[in-house]
Amino acid sequence: MKRIAIFASGSGSNAEKICEHFAERDDVDVSLIFTNNPMAGVIRRALKLQIPVVFFDRKTFYHTGKIPQILQNEGIDLVVLAGFMMLVPPVLVNAFSNKMINIHPALLPKYGGKGMYGHHVHEAVVNAGETESGITIHYVNEHYDEGDVIFQAKCDVVSGDTPEDVARKVHALEYEHYPRVIDEILTGR
Ligand code: GAR
Repeated sequence: MKRIAIFASGSGSNAEKICEHFAERDDVDVSLIFTNNPMAGVIRRALKLQIPVVFFDRKTFYHTGKIPQILQNEGIDLVVLAGFMMLVPPVLVNAFSNKMINIHPALLPKYGGKGMYGHHVHEAVVNAGETESGITIHYVNEHYDEGDVIFQAKCDVVSGDTPEDVARKVHALEYEHYPRVIDEILTGR
């Protein structure tokens, strides 16, 4: 059995899609959902899906080894960031080197880095007059959005598209591909 831990800070719609993808499987299990945000929508989703939630604060994340310790004790094989908004500290990057992935809502290396998350990304894409955007799934290192790219998919951005329109298209790509790519990484199919 391969075990996944998801980290999410917000609504958690990607987290839910991943959980649904693996719900009937006996070879892969979404074992834990971690959040730094007590108000995050992902908590309600996790309760509904009956997946345990681990809440942590900044101090624990950046100044203790507690999070990697929990992940290791739980036998986690892959850490999946899904709308997680904190920079991952070296202690965790090193413990899960090549075993931690992120999804970014743009075509990296464009529109990545500190402050580039969620709607900020889509606003920047529209303001720059881009004709396409998309998703990037990548390994996580100690810099924002810089690890090796695993997969990208594109969508059109047409004249008149608002940041909300782009967000909708990007979310559709995320739901289509993130669970599938995670599955491939864990099972090789
Ligand atoms: C997703 O679009 C994800 O790509 C993005 O936040 C959204 C979370 O939505 N992540 C980042 O911007 C990370 N830099 P969700 O909470 O509904 O899954």
